[in-house]
Amino acid sequence: MELADVTTISVLGAGNMGHGIAEVSALAGYDVTLRDINEELVQKGYEQIEWSLDKLVEKDQLSDEEADAARERITPVVDMEDAVAEADVIIEAVPEVMDIKRDVYSEVDEYAPDHAIFATNTSSLSITELSEATDRPERFCGMHFFNPPVRMQLVEVIAGDHTSEETLAVVEELAESMDKTPVRVHKDSPGFIVNRVLIPLLNEAAWLVEEGTATIGEVDATTKFDMGLPMGAFELADQVGIDVSYHVLDYMHETLGDAYRPCPLLAEKVETEQVGKKAGEGFYKYD
Ligand code: CAA
Repeated sequence: MELADVTTISVLGAGNMGHGIAEVSALAGYDVTLRDINEELVQKGYEQIEWSLDKLVEKDQLSDEEADAARERITPVVDMEDAVAEADVIIEAVPEVMDIKRDVYSEVDEYAPDHAIFATNTSSLSITELSEATDRPERFCGMHFFNPPVRMQLVEVIAGDHTSEETLAVVEELAESMDKTPVRVHKDSPGFIVNRVLIPLLNEAAWLVEEGTATIGEVDATTKFDMGLPMGAFELADQVGIDVSYHVLDYMHETLGDAYRPCPLLAEKVETEQVGKKAGEGFYKYD
């Protein structure tokens, strides 16, 4: 398959990342189905896309016509067969839990056209292991966007042990067609490049607060203004989702060892469901 054969993209999962990936795909001119497990979740994702498109128009980064065209290209669906039956590329952004993702893949495999490429937006999990839940491991790779997808330039394209060169080339070109910069990750290693560097930073920031070395405000002021990050470490954890950060860390701890032991402060936030911007509260409160 070549990029020219790609006209329809199915995005599975309408959450924080899924809705953004659907938006970016529609803005690039692809027909998109956005799927989640119930009407309420899929509708919430669609409303977030509408909010984002309006924001881009308000800031003169998009015309009204471009926003309308993108909106019209997106079809929200709940039924899995409807979501993937016509898809050339399926980008999966369901929760960061191996068993959930593998279950989704075994269902999708049944309904997706034979030629379709499966691209997972996993933040850390093994591409090889996920690909083995399908009958097409050679047409399976990682396509990892960053939050918020509509603003972040980078996409990691990750090869699993079975991924074909043709699949990687199509997915890299697909990212470029979305005005993104793909970076190939040659080895299927937990956290890939960005999260291997970023998530321990968020964890260390949490340990500093946990052990009483600094306050959240002091860590954020230092990481933002003095180290030059675009957001403070805790602001970034809220943006990414503390639950996502925790899942990634937990997996890195399990696969790479004790250096990645999650700070209890993160676990507490997950337990109390104060997981960041999307929940209205994380380390900070949001309207
Ligand atoms: N769509 C449209 N507008 C959006 C938006 C979206 N999805 N998200 C935020 N905005 C808007 C905000 O509402 C705000 O609008 P107002 O000014 O009206 O309040 C505006 O964008 C802010 O944009 P600015 O350009 O003024 O602000 P900025 O220069 O700070 O840029 C940013 C914002 C691009 C998010 C920047 O802060 C940034 O780069 N932050 C770091 C984000 C990051 O590192 N993400 C990766 C995390 S790792 C990850 O995601 C991977 C994983 O697997 C865990």
